[in-house]
Amino acid sequence: MDLDSRAKAILTANDRGGYTVPNGRVYPFQWNWDSAFVALGFDAFDRERAWTEVETLFKAQWDDGFLPHIVFWKDDPGYFPGPSVWATGHDPVTSGITQPPVAATVVRKLWESAHAAGQGDAFRARLEALFPKLLAWHRWFRDVRDPDKRGVVVAMHPWETGRDNSPEWDAPGEPIDVSNVGDYVRRDTSHLDAKMRPTKLEYDRYLALVQWGRARGWDHAEIARTNPFQVADVGMSMILLRANRDLLWLAEELGRDADAAEIDAIIATAEAGIDWLWDEDRHCWCSRDRLTGKHSGFVTSASFLSFYAGLHDPAKDAGMLTHFERIGARVPCLMPSLDPDDPGFQMIRYWRGPVWAVVNYMIGTGLTECGYDAQGERVRRNTAELMEKNGFYEAYSPIDGTGSGGDDFSWTAAIWLAWARSR
Ligand code: GLC
Repeated sequence: MDLDSRAKAILTANDRGGYTVPNGRVYPFQWNWDSAFVALGFDAFDRERAWTEVETLFKAQWDDGFLPHIVFWKDDPGYFPGPSVWATGHDPVTSGITQPPVAATVVRKLWESAHAAGQGDAFRARLEALFPKLLAWHRWFRDVRDPDKRGVVVAMHPWETGRDNSPEWDAPGEPIDVSNVGDYVRRDTSHLDAKMRPTKLEYDRYLALVQWGRARGWDHAEIARTNPFQVADVGMSMILLRANRDLLWLAEELGRDADAAEIDAIIATAEAGIDWLWDEDRHCWCSRDRLTGKHSGFVTSASFLSFYAGLHDPAKDAGMLTHFERIGARVPCLMPSLDPDDPGFQMIRYWRGPVWAVVNYMIGTGLTECGYDAQGERVRRNTAELMEKNGFYEAYSPIDGTGSGGDDFSWTAAIWLAWARSR
């Protein structure tokens, strides 16, 4: 089977009726940013189904605009922590934390693609229905997750960042008390080699934070005030800035002037404040611990999302391009999730080395949009080569391209269809 057909077959096989699971064994529910990227993949062959993916996700939105990272449409014993551990008391049952807000950017893409195909009229009502939900979620980030009004996103759990075990969370995770987490049975390590997965200490911390939120009835305002883990994530912050630009574009498209003015103000706050994440010593965009003020100092794949965020600062861009060239000379396949010159780099351990197609898509798109065509094209070509050689894995070694994590992975297949295969 050719790659296009295989990618489509994966999305179709992982479709559970209105939503798509990232991987049937390891991740048997609907995940927030996975679904957004999956919609881009469906859009290459089934426009109707693409919109449904996003609409189903937003059916799980809470009244205050919060959009959960997992929706447990049906229970499945193959995953831990499942719905009873989260105990958010919502219908449908969801987790109590969020994930990187890529949805507005995706919806703009879906809309532009419908429009280009002459189907703008047919999809306009669906866009109008989605718009207020996207805005509500972005307001939630502004009101609940940016306490210092810097235009950044403060994550309350490593899982919110989508880069679960990145070393960026190691130092900020130290104050998390794991002495009372109790016994639990992980399911990820029964599906996959433990060498590819987070450690026991990391899992204890993940669990302790879930218990912390649950003990506070998932009151997000209270969690934001008291949580022992509060990190301004460079990835989510760049992604939200980008998403707000796309949401502004959509507001103008729909003639929603008051909303446009409000989104404009959110963007202005970010453009004025996001420099807080620039680490002058590392000469790099880095996550930063809100409680101690310390920069992580880690050059990760998320650091390269400043281009995607539409930031234009010649000195900072030059700093990032220098890192890009250095890393590009060290590994054949960009972009490793952690700097290969870092002593903690591990080629198959999840977010401490492996390449992720969705992050590459954002990095490559951003570089190309900013006029760095050669760099953007290198990232796209490397992504395509990984898939051509090894199939559609969750992630890949930047050294030899070995696939790691789950196979037949939805968002990887989607990124092939939406971007990597294009010439
Ligand atoms: C892992 C990834 C996260 C993703 C999820 C489902 O937890 O770190 O980014 O959303 O798997 O694919």
